[in-house]
Amino acid sequence: MTKPTVFVPHTIPDKALHRLHATCEVIYRDLRSEPTQTELADGLRGAKGMVCYGKISVRESLLEAAPQLEVVSNIAVGFDNFDLAAMQAHWVSGTNTPGVLTETTADLAFALLMAAARRIPEADAYVKSGQWQKWVPDLMVGSDVYGKTIGIVGMGRIGEAVARRALGFGMTIVYHNRRRQPNAELALGAVYRASLEELLGESDFVVLLTPLTKHTFHLIGEDELCRMKRNAWIINVARGAVLDESALMKALDGGWIAGAGLDVYEEEPLPANHPLLSRPNVVMLPHIGSATVATRENMALTAVDNIIAYFSGRRPPNLVNPDVWERRFGQSAERMKE
Ligand code: GLV
Repeated sequence: MTKPTVFVPHTIPDKALHRLHATCEVIYRDLRSEPTQTELADGLRGAKGMVCYGKISVRESLLEAAPQLEVVSNIAVGFDNFDLAAMQAHWVSGTNTPGVLTETTADLAFALLMAAARRIPEADAYVKSGQWQKWVPDLMVGSDVYGKTIGIVGMGRIGEAVARRALGFGMTIVYHNRRRQPNAELALGAVYRASLEELLGESDFVVLLTPLTKHTFHLIGEDELCRMKRNAWIINVARGAVLDESALMKALDGGWIAGAGLDVYEEEPLPANHPLLSRPNVVMLPHIGSATVATRENMALTAVDNIIAYFSGRRPPNLVNPDVWERRFGQSAERMKE
């Protein structure tokens, strides 16, 4: 039986690549740079599957250029790079990697919150640049975390994992979500706020963890930042465009909030001279929420397993648009393989 061809447009961990090789013909572009449109079109020629991450946007133009493409497997939990309507129209299945990165991303969210509140990067730079002369009471003073109120916007798996960490810090946990999460309320004592405004007004730390959709684009803008406490911090570990960056600049200029911790940006990588770069009260990371050796490997393995399942006639475990798979294969394909 001929193996299906799968295009991998950028470097992935070896273990995942080897697993993919066992069942698929792999076109591998072992590079860390973003593929150009031409490289993408070349690699996709004849490919039935793609395993990708980063900025590759699966939209009409890409799908038109790759009519034989059947499945795209994201090495990420977020899939805002998928145009689901276009994928539906072209019968292309999409998969993601939920679960394996939950705890790692929650660790990072909390680290970022702590780093911003306690000015860790600033203090580190201060020591290393030889400026430390003397202990003085107001040196690098920051904000307390213990016992404060954390407002989690987007109470999914990662939101709950952040809430568990917050519990250890004696924090009051409030959350806002599309749907109420009774389990989080019971297990963590998290208090639901139907109104985002209410959460913003009472939180000392607002942590954004919601997926980027048309409903959450610029969810936090000027009005929302204005409602926050003047000594509160905003932490974004979701997607850059959930937070309106120009509104954030206004909020920082106006002293509406204490500052921000950001792992994600409206444009990535951040353009040189971006105004946020010069802000001491903004801690900035290069989109590393899930970046540990083990988790990145597990994400790649999960993505590869999704593709392998697809081509062996099994339902991929992490379909983001199951309708497309059902329409193409239905229940009968599943039964035939069992
Ligand atoms: C990373 O941002 C992810 O969505 O997994």
